[in-house]
Amino acid sequence: MSNPLASDLNALRQVVEKSARHGRYAQTFHLVPPVGWLNDPNGLCQLGDTYHAFFQYSPFSAEGGVKMWGHSTSSDMVRWSYEGTALYPDQPVDVGGVYSGSAYVEDGVMHVFYTGNVKHEDEDGYDYVNTGREANTIYVTSTDGVNFGPKKLVMGNADYPGDDTEHVRDPKVWRDGDTYYMVQGARKKDDTGEVLVFSSPNLVNWELCNRITSNTRFGYMWECPDYFELPDTGEFARHEVVQVLSVSPQGLHGGDWDRRNVYQSGYFVLLGDVTSICTLFPFALWDAGFDFYAPQTFQTDDGRRILIGWMGMPDEKSYTNLTVRDGWQHCFTVPREVSAKNGRVLQWPVRELESYRTNEQRVSDTLVAKDMRAFDLLVDGIDANEPLTIVLANQLELTWRDRRFEMRFTDEDMESVGAGRKSRFEFLDELRNVRVVCDVSSVEVFVNDGELTFSSRYYPVAYGIDVMAPGAEISLWDLEAEA
Ligand code: FRU
Repeated sequence: MSNPLASDLNALRQVVEKSARHGRYAQTFHLVPPVGWLNDPNGLCQLGDTYHAFFQYSPFSAEGGVKMWGHSTSSDMVRWSYEGTALYPDQPVDVGGVYSGSAYVEDGVMHVFYTGNVKHEDEDGYDYVNTGREANTIYVTSTDGVNFGPKKLVMGNADYPGDDTEHVRDPKVWRDGDTYYMVQGARKKDDTGEVLVFSSPNLVNWELCNRITSNTRFGYMWECPDYFELPDTGEFARHEVVQVLSVSPQGLHGGDWDRRNVYQSGYFVLLGDVTSICTLFPFALWDAGFDFYAPQTFQTDDGRRILIGWMGMPDEKSYTNLTVRDGWQHCFTVPREVSAKNGRVLQWPVRELESYRTNEQRVSDTLVAKDMRAFDLLVDGIDANEPLTIVLANQLELTWRDRRFEMRFTDEDMESVGAGRKSRFEFLDELRNVRVVCDVSSVEVFVNDGELTFSSRYYPVAYGIDVMAPGAEISLWDLEAEA
């Protein structure tokens, strides 16, 4: 490492990682930072037989700090090994942080694009929205995810539309025919969020080809955009593929938004051509739980579309994570297979997780279990006219009543199982099945084959599962993924 800033950051990172311990809330099959803070999934891809996941990483504080790209690998998306840090903020074009981005793989080469964040010294009273900030689009390649070539600046503020603010970021790249495409999230000067679409013949020269926003203003900034197409498998499918534009909008207020998270992540089904003329269907949430933001997808070599989210929430002051006292905060969701059926987008934990199931129990109507810390619970064949209750760790209630599915912590104290979390709910026409995938300090709920999910961190004192589901079939497995 020839750059002295990068080599010192590397040395310091290794020092803090050496003394790190995850403590009582250590996860067993969720990707976590070795120490400090993690946010967005970045550069998700498969190279040969290995899955690579990079993450926004601030090793020096559990409350965040300067961003670099941590790197983990896996052969099955369940057991992850930390490999070190891939990209440091060590150049004038990214010195304020190696922000989020993606990896596009072609012929064994990872083509990585990310935002080099720069914040200028505040001598002129910058607001860092319209002034004082650089959002540099940087391109770098690697054949192993460990060693990277030189950083190449391919776009800067002057290359983005003049009516955008200096908030443009999070490039996601794909290829269609002979052309490469890139989406970036942006905040316009009139405080509306939008997605910029660029095209390139060679990954180096990029040209703006489309700007996408909703008919009516939908928040002030759209972060972490992603675009992909899913074959529709349903017998009532109206289109061969469902086109999905995923965004994480900030600034949604009023109506139902006030009872939800500070920021949202969801998708618009899109009709038309993402690179020229298209229209957006109404926004749908990826996840209605407390901790889910900035998801990214990639395609595996066997053709599956995999989504991983950040199981955390920025700028949320009303609840916390009890792992901070052990020097770390946040994790990724379990990787989820995304598919479409009859126009609906579904999420389901990667099938590889099922090979870690052991000690199967199968019962009807009710189930009580104790001391299971990592488990997979499936409640199927639900009678939607009957109320249903699942209680985890005595304090987290999942209920179905009056067409409403709710995730609620019964104790709202900052030191309780929910660490300040209260209630999240959505209205559904029916309830057919519920799957709950729990690790030591996380809960992911998949409702109706994954039409809706609820993700949350939780901090049990005593582990326990109580299911009351009259008429339903209940299956429960331990998940033994710990090495
Ligand atoms: C989303 C985000 C991205 C940005 C990154 C910085 O959580 O704000 O827009 O690139 O985090 O860590």
